[in-house]
Amino acid sequence: HALEWDLEEIEKGGYEHFMLKEIMEQPHSVADAMRGRVHPQEGQIRLGGLQKVLPQLVEAERIVICACGTSWHAGLAGEYLIEALARVPVEVEYASEFRYRNPVLTERDVVIVISQSGETADTLAAVRQAQGAGCLAVGLVNAVGSTIARETDAGVYLHAGPEIGVASTKAFTAQVAVLAQIALLLGAERGVLSQDEVRRHAEALAAIPAQIQTVLDGEEQIRRMARDYRYASNFLYLGRGANFPVALEGALKLKEISYIHAEGYPAAEMKHGPIALIDQFMPVVFIATRDATYEKVVSNIEEVAARGGTVIAITDEGNRDLDALAEYVVEVPKTIDALEPLLTVIPLQLLSYHIAVMRGADVDQPRNLAKSVTVE
Ligand code: G6P
Repeated sequence: HALEWDLEEIEKGGYEHFMLKEIMEQPHSVADAMRGRVHPQEGQIRLGGLQKVLPQLVEAERIVICACGTSWHAGLAGEYLIEALARVPVEVEYASEFRYRNPVLTERDVVIVISQSGETADTLAAVRQAQGAGCLAVGLVNAVGSTIARETDAGVYLHAGPEIGVASTKAFTAQVAVLAQIALLLGAERGVLSQDEVRRHAEALAAIPAQIQTVLDGEEQIRRMARDYRYASNFLYLGRGANFPVALEGALKLKEISYIHAEGYPAAEMKHGPIALIDQFMPVVFIATRDATYEKVVSNIEEVAARGGTVIAITDEGNRDLDALAEYVVEVPKTIDALEPLLTVIPLQLLSYHIAVMRGADVDQPRNLAKSVTVE
């Protein structure tokens, strides 16, 4: 099977693993998820796939987002985005729970499902459940022509390109980028955002691909960090607001490919349990960008440092406040609060990747996991 092997090497484009290639591709994949859709000059978002259902979407009384795994984390980031920018109430559901709970739905609810593969059994069942209740079902899907893409009433393709690594990376950022566009579109159409605010947000969104590149250029620091912490057997990831979903996603990435136990928590919940675990052997990764909840996160960092915990901080460029508290301070460029996940998740993807490689794990094919879960 030498030929197969050669093809795989070509597809990896010179990278050692698909996962690393897909992490590195994100400046392009996120740009592709916005191409022809985000128009900063006009202060406009145009999503062709939603055109025909736009009135129903704009009038929605509530949006219910259903997904699994990493796509569910993107959905959670979507909740923050849509509630902040469009003021529509959002609920985020695990598709597997939603489908069996006999959820209360009305025809004024819109259900958005998110899926990289478009084939996840539970997510597909959520589509059917939503349609059965008379709801509009919108799909955010990467795989063109997949079952979920075909069965939903309307949708937006992620255009992230094929994702081969089992641990999802570029699909996540494409999902969040599309959710940000939906939030902006709804905010504009519902009159929540002024033309000027839409323009400002669209500009911030358009700047994201180059900012992701800046974060990727800092890979060497993450590699050093991975070397220092590769033998840890537990990690804690903490964030608030828009960065809470990133904490969950960072922990999931580490579990999936390095088999290190990791938990993500909203930073303030730390004192309701995880704080009991803190010692010098458990790295605590804080996502602490200078946004609305920053001061609160800093007090949580102080609490961990005071107990002898090891702090790794992800923050925004030029922030020196955390130098004395953290072993490592990773800087990401500044963006508007709701878009932070698009930048803060990148160092966490790289961290899990490098730790897994250093531990000799099979990064692209982690044990017991499947890229697409088509059975219950
Ligand atoms: C599997 C994959 C995850 C993915 C999840 C949802 O567990 O290993 O990476 O996030 O399924 O998949 P979907 O294709 O629906 O996004």
